[in-house]
Amino acid sequence: NNHKSDSRGALIVLEGLDRSGKTLQSRKLISYLEGLSYSVESWRFPDRNTGVGQMISSYLANKSELDDHAIHLLFSANRWEKRFVSMSHALCYVLLLQRSLMENKLRCGTTLIVDRYSFSGVAFSSAKGLDIEWCKAPEMGLLAPDLVLYLDIPPEVICSIIKFVVEVKAPEMGLLAPDLVLYLDIPPEKAAERGGYGGERYEQLEFQRKVVRSYQILHDASWKTIDACLPIEDVEKQLQEVVLDCVTTCQKGKPLSQLWS
Ligand code: TYD
Repeated sequence: NNHKSDSRGALIVLEGLDRSGKTLQSRKLISYLEGLSYSVESWRFPDRNTGVGQMISSYLANKSELDDHAIHLLFSANRWEKRFVSMSHALCYVLLLQRSLMENKLRCGTTLIVDRYSFSGVAFSSAKGLDIEWCKAPEMGLLAPDLVLYLDIPPEVICSIIKFVVEVKAPEMGLLAPDLVLYLDIPPEKAAERGGYGGERYEQLEFQRKVVRSYQILHDASWKTIDACLPIEDVEKQLQEVVLDCVTTCQKGKPLSQLWS
């Protein structure tokens, strides 16, 4: 019973050192795709608007101290937060086959341009010396809190929903794998010359050199590396080409998969 619409939006991630131009290029990609009448949304990690995000923000601004493992888990929790569906959305959650916010958006045809994802999590924490496998672990395998979500619904509705849920496939277990990772490649020395550098905790040349090494370990053949030192318009053009190709493939029904599964 596969419907016509295996068609979906693409999950596209931009990665790179601080000041590599991810944020500017994300914005340009959004306008480009909107101009072509695609449904598209801009996401970023860390998402500083949540409670966890505020703890991260304060840590990055050197206003609080945290153990390296603890801050790593907070960055990861910040991604998992985007899976959570609040009580008031419980019914919606069940009816939408227990999908996460991210999966729902994609299945509804919206392409997500995500500024940093799990790869930043692993690259930055492992650059501090944490074990790379330990860093990857919290990005996979947590269970969605599906049963907790029923509390909010009148008993009559619960009965019918529980019947419905039994027939529904199990919720996805981990975070989604991106359809495309765009790595904006810039030597740390060049990045350091750019404006606005040095304000936050990780914006230090020696540390960014270690992050490059971690990214090199994570990097696989599916990543697209773009030279971030080229003029802005050239970077923009190269990104447009690969992104359009990816969006078209996803529209044709490329299946979603789990990160590092
Ligand atoms: P950044 O993209 O620079 O955010 P903003 O543009 O809002 O300042 O990300 C902030 C820093 O956090 C950056 O140095 C990379 C680091 N980081 C991690 O260490 N782990 C993570 O999981 C993420 C997403 C980012």
